Amino acid sequence: MTESRTGRKQIHLAAHFPGVNATTVWSDPRSGSQIDFSSFEHLARTAERGLFDFFFLAEGLRLREHKGRIHDLDVVGRPESITVLAALAAVTDRLGLAATVNTTFNEPYELARRLATLDHLSGGRAGWNAVTSSDAFTGENFRRGGYLDRSERYTRAAEFVATARELWDSWPLGGERRRFAHDGPQFRIEGEVTVERPPQGHPVVIQAGDSDEGREFAASAADVIFTRHSTPEAGRAFYADVKGRLARYGRRPEELKVMPGVTYVLGDTEAEARERAALISRQQISPQNALLALEQVWGRDLSGHDPDGPLPEADPDPESALVQGRVRIGDPLAVAARWRALSEAKGLSTRDTVIEATGRHSFVGTPASVAAALEEHVATGAADGFILVPHLTPGGLDDFVDRVVPILQERGVFRTEYTGTTLRSHLGLPVPVWKGGTP
Ligand SMILES: Cc1cc2nc3c(=O)[nH]c(=O)nc-3n(C[C@H](O)[C@H](O)[C@H](O)COP(=O)(O)O)c2cc1C
Repeated sequence: MTESRTGRKQIHLAAHFPGVNATTVWSDPRSGSQIDFSSFEHLARTAERGLFDFFFLAEGLRLREHKGRIHDLDVVGRPESITVLAALAAVTDRLGLAATVNTTFNEPYELARRLATLDHLSGGRAGWNAVTSSDAFTGENFRRGGYLDRSERYTRAAEFVATARELWDSWPLGGERRRFAHDGPQFRIEGEVTVERPPQGHPVVIQAGDSDEGREFAASAADVIFTRHSTPEAGRAFYADVKGRLARYGRRPEELKVMPGVTYVLGDTEAEARERAALISRQQISPQNALLALEQVWGRDLSGHDPDGPLPEADPDPESALVQGRVRIGDPLAVAARWRALSEAKGLSTRDTVIEATGRHSFVGTPASVAAALEEHVATGAADGFILVPHLTPGGLDDFVDRVVPILQERGVFRTEYTGTTLRSHLGLPVPVWKGGTP
């Protein structure tokens, strides 16, 4: 646990650049480009002004399709993360820079080299969200004609991360370069690396999968977990589960930080914040987006369905391939049953059911009450910090940094200046021990 002079557990904060989903309200006149450098720069500089631990980019390697067509209700497309972060390294000074890059379609030598380069360029600020990208649809963009079997994704991911670390350790900073040789079931490679050991030793490794294997992989190899479990109850259960797995790997609870992705809405009063939250939910879940969400769960073409009418009578098709490139969350039949129960209990239309079921904002209130709720969440073991997902690009974090961060600082739960220069030091993570003998 990272504690301040006040003895209170410190909160870690990260900024998620809004991605390709309905969280971002692109219809808002304040919305900017998702690809212009100025958008990335604005959000990153805001996060650094707020003394955040890191800036985070997700990854999507194929345009999503819906009913056989490119899904263009959300923003379409996503640039390559490490390139964007290298440019941001030049306009920021302390902020950590984390890229989501999958372990299924890359090779350790190439990716370890790019991450080491980013770590050098940024003076020790690189982070890597190692995802497994299970999706065969995405895999069609790569060689081997498809993708890895689901059961092998984490076998490859674990060996990938271990191999990357061997490569980072094969040329100590200022020391002698050595040959590396890795001979495992997934990778059989040998040679010499072209970049010295990164300033952080190893860039920070983040993990985002939620299955049992995903959690075990995080416990064995990750420094941070990015999770969807953002309510206090689900957060505490998840936190206890993953922290409980660490001892098996000889690791202490503070060596793995749990950071849920969360949204927030602020107002001058609680009532105003609730009103704004309801309005944002209706912007996010427009009638078209409500039908889209419905079709994602039902796996059926429901284009004739009235979003202001009741839910469809037919049950979902669990085997459907209607939606491509987006993870189907949970068992569709169970989700549909939950939605039906909600709709009946509250007398909600289709759109209002979708809003109620999926449009929840994690923290809604005045800056003071949101700050108190964030502190409570961390103090009660539901998280070590938060990856904030703003609903506007690029100005969506401005109010949080201006209004919530100062209150967190007054409460003694958030830094008032950067005390270190690397992402590892912001997160309170140890520098990996050099394992290669005397450099
Ligand atoms: C919070 C969160 C964020 C994720 N972000 C990405 C992403 O940006 N790109 C990606 O390809 N997969 C992403 N994933 C998918 C996971 O890495 C993983 O492929 C997927 O969750 C399936 O693994 P699992 O069965 O362990 O959950 C994310 C998952 C979670 C839970």
